[in-house]
Amino acid sequence: MARRKKIYEGKAKTLYEGPEPGTIVQYFKDDATAFNAEKKDVIEGKGVLNNLLSEYFMLGLGQIGVPTHFLKRLNMREQLVRSCEIVPLEVIVRNYAAGSMSKRLGIDEGTQLPRPIVEYCYKDDSLGDPLVTEEHIAAFGWASQQDMDDILSLALRVNDFLSGMMLAVGIRLVDFKIEIGRVYDGDFQRLVVADEISPDSCRLWDIESGQKLDKDVFRRDLGSLTDAYSEVARRLGVMPNNPPAPSKPTLVN
Ligand code: TMP
Repeated sequence: MARRKKIYEGKAKTLYEGPEPGTIVQYFKDDATAFNAEKKDVIEGKGVLNNLLSEYFMLGLGQIGVPTHFLKRLNMREQLVRSCEIVPLEVIVRNYAAGSMSKRLGIDEGTQLPRPIVEYCYKDDSLGDPLVTEEHIAAFGWASQQDMDDILSLALRVNDFLSGMMLAVGIRLVDFKIEIGRVYDGDFQRLVVADEISPDSCRLWDIESGQKLDKDVFRRDLGSLTDAYSEVARRLGVMPNNPPAPSKPTLVN
């Protein structure tokens, strides 16, 4: 088979040219990074779990009419997506204070916010993805006012959908990050949810115990990341047939 052309290698995914023009193959790696890749590890099985979970969330969004880049899953590690131009923003929605917001504003992690708060970060690793305002976005032309209206509405719809889906399986959606892509149908531009939605890009806490089931397990050394992501997949009914190997050796009597 001819070797595929690699388009881009990111921290957690590699993108290859897809079989048809306008398509891309997204390969989910097992690499985990945090703090702008200062902390790194390979977590066996993470890529498989994120591929399946992202497929599940993107398909669900499609079913309620939220446009996404997702076309179909190809295998346990790859999915076919529409190629799009990524808006250079990380769109974060927060329902409870945590992470950088708690740090910046001195609010205890887990405090419920009076309403969902949407934040934007400029996507630039060399700057550490700094928080920006709509003023910066407009002034530097990263997105138009119409785009920003659409992005806000997409972000809030994703929030309502994911919050409900998680609540149904006893998980609190604390916050999440999405990325937005532009796709062109002729001269017409549409915005779609792109990249991935997975426990790498969300904060998910068990409602009863408060146990973290997301990438904070890796960021803060709280235990096995595969166990945490597998638990999310199991509750949602998207566990792979051959679950990833356990992260620790098991004693056999
Ligand atoms: P933060 O509290 O560190 O700003 O993170 C907010 C949300 O965004 C959290 O759900 C994790 C997610 N996130 C990413 O997906 N990628 C990143 O690079 C960072 C910093 C956060």
